[in-house]
Amino acid sequence: MSDISKNKKVTVVGAGNVGATTAQLIAEKGLADVVLIDIIEGIPQGKALDMFEACPLWHSSSRVAGTNNYDDTAGSDVVVITAGLARKPGMSRDGLLKANADIVKKVAEHIRSTSPEAIVIVVSNPMDAMAHVAQKVTGFPHNRVIGMGGVLDTSRMRSFISLETGVPPKKIKAMVLGGHGDLMVPVYRLTTVDGKNIAEVLSDDKIQAIVERTKSGGAEIVSHLKTGSAYYAPAASTVEMIESIFGIKDEALPSSVLLNGEYGISGVYVGVPVELGPHGLEKIIELELSEEDIKALHTSADAVRELVDKLEI
Ligand code: LAC
Repeated sequence: MSDISKNKKVTVVGAGNVGATTAQLIAEKGLADVVLIDIIEGIPQGKALDMFEACPLWHSSSRVAGTNNYDDTAGSDVVVITAGLARKPGMSRDGLLKANADIVKKVAEHIRSTSPEAIVIVVSNPMDAMAHVAQKVTGFPHNRVIGMGGVLDTSRMRSFISLETGVPPKKIKAMVLGGHGDLMVPVYRLTTVDGKNIAEVLSDDKIQAIVERTKSGGAEIVSHLKTGSAYYAPAASTVEMIESIFGIKDEALPSSVLLNGEYGISGVYVGVPVELGPHGLEKIIELELSEEDIKALHTSADAVRELVDKLEI
């Protein structure tokens, strides 16, 4: 009993594919107790109970519970927001702006009162703008509201490079910065394959094709699934961030954070390399980027700002 009660508590808002898979990975790894919450009755309860019943097989002491009531989420260490509509084929992430902003606002109001000390990870799209909404509405310090995008985009890029080169992903380093949208910025200088810069390993054409596939990685999955968007890699990326927050992993991760002059950008959420830890955002890493990358980062940040301006929050 006493061991279990020391577990950390993570609330996952939204019991759809991304939320449920995130909850599953947390429970499977035994990282924390999980509360899965959704407005639909029965779904979070059923999925959570099913996961809880798998915990003995996973050798996990996580408790997993599903609910429709925010009281059950009280005092969470981390809250992951996945609630919202997913893209349909042909739709950009930005097309979800208004509908998902309304949903994220409501969620953020609940979190503000039930888990005032939580670190919030925003996954709902368009993610950078939704992180902005969540930070404004909760009023939490900006280090406690972080968006998930760069980890996913970077993982996609690494898998495509692995496919092309045959080198296992663990020997491939990459860093995709900028907003989690069509203007994301893969940084070539930081992309290495078995210690060599990618330009030494692959032709320009091949690199360009990988970059394009990375940029449209989300849309590629939507075009296959038709009724939803990606969830295995988004969930794994979210859990990677949680493991950093809990101090289990300590690699710098590209994440969407509110910039305050870093990279010459202010007042907007955009993906940059960060260190995560017990306070959420611990440190923004300012890489020396090429002029071209800086320009692309600014263009991407401007696109996020444009979305946020449309919301009048
Ligand atoms: C994607 C969604 C999660 O990139 O934004 O698949």
